[in-house]
Amino acid sequence: MKILILGNGAREFSIGRAIKNEKEDHELFYMPGNGATHQLGTNISIKDYNELALWAKENNIELTIVGPEAPLVDGVVDIFKSHGLTIFGPSKEAAQLEGSKVYMKNFLAKYNIPTARYIETDSIEDAFKFTASLQAPIVVKADGLCGGKGVIIAQSHDEAKIAISEMLSGKSFGDAGKKVIVEEFLDGYELSMFAVCDGDDFILLPAAQDHKRLQDNDEGPNTGGMGAYAPTPLVDDTLYEKVKERIIRPTLDGMKKENAPFEGVLFIGIMVVNGEPITLEFNVRFGDPECEILMPLMTSNVSDMFYKAATNRLSEIKVEFSKQYAVGVVMASENYPYSSSKPAEIILDDVHHEEIEKYTHISFAGVSLQDDILYADGGRVLVCVGLGDTIKQARDRAYMRCGQVHFAGKKLRSDIAYQAL
Ligand code: AMP
Ligand code: GLY
Repeated sequence: MKILILGNGAREFSIGRAIKNEKEDHELFYMPGNGATHQLGTNISIKDYNELALWAKENNIELTIVGPEAPLVDGVVDIFKSHGLTIFGPSKEAAQLEGSKVYMKNFLAKYNIPTARYIETDSIEDAFKFTASLQAPIVVKADGLCGGKGVIIAQSHDEAKIAISEMLSGKSFGDAGKKVIVEEFLDGYELSMFAVCDGDDFILLPAAQDHKRLQDNDEGPNTGGMGAYAPTPLVDDTLYEKVKERIIRPTLDGMKKENAPFEGVLFIGIMVVNGEPITLEFNVRFGDPECEILMPLMTSNVSDMFYKAATNRLSEIKVEFSKQYAVGVVMASENYPYSSSKPAEIILDDVHHEEIEKYTHISFAGVSLQDDILYADGGRVLVCVGLGDTIKQARDRAYMRCGQVHFAGKKLRSDIAYQAL
């Protein structure tokens, strides 16, 4: 197949890598891709979605896979479909499950899907009144997309009030904070679950855990994610069933009733409180770095899964997963997540050790290529992935691979998967 992947991260790299590892020979294109995706396909640069759709038609692209949320919220799927193209991802309307926290929370309430008690409002008085009914800590969220920074866990009522005032006045997040959500704090452990959906049916992937804080022991600022592992032993069959029955099934049925059938990846941020899964949030795409560890665990055909999901035929296939575990360790550049960093040359040691060769690999993100030299270009640079028969073995292998990657200012956590070890 000729396949176009939208995005430039390690998430999109890992999807392309999984597709290139299939028996069948596929031709891949990335828009825009990064300094390493040329290992997998051809990078193209067409920013306008209508122009891109015309290019996809002219070039007989049979499937387009959208990695990040921004093009989805902007309606790339609707545009591609209006040109008769096959594309995997939710419509603009359905992407509101991520694009607007107010839409998401009201949807969850309407369809009785478990979530934290909340109020959604643009009135400071109402927000303060609800805050008074909660015990600290109190969670305050901006409505719109804020690059993962729009959530404040306030440790006191006063701190919550400041966060609310700054959001509603537009001071902290501009238009994205014109409406806020104030909600109760859930105390439990967090999971990332992913369901590949075709509007009617879904396939639930093995549950993962992300590590959002920059530093070991979950200290430091929030990031896009510093590492992940799957499957997590914190989930048993009972919990998987509860997530399917109480969250995913009613979400797909509800979205159909809303005339916005959900196709694409439903990413459910879950807090498990006393054994019960509560929905923290939805995203409408794969997690990054969760995708990088889930892709290598899939033993059935990845491109076929995306194609069948995009053509409402998921019920025809069986998706299979390896019995192994995967651990991914993110290596970020010096000033991440605060500011950009100077490009730094990346030296990758030659891999001689058979174990490393066979059970590890790298998915590249913030890298650029100049005169055949790879540079760390800021943000999250790459993810070292290890596979193993146990989480510990997968973790040890991922860190062995990290030891073979060198660039000035490299930053990584040393405790990925600690909750399972
Ligand atoms: P979100 O962007 O909604 O996923 O929130 C970012 C992070 O804030 C989540 O990954 C959780 O760690 C935390 N969080 C969000 N809502 C709550 C809540 N109601 N209770 C506890 N932690 C929360
Ligand atoms: N790793 C979490 C996210 O992609 O939002």
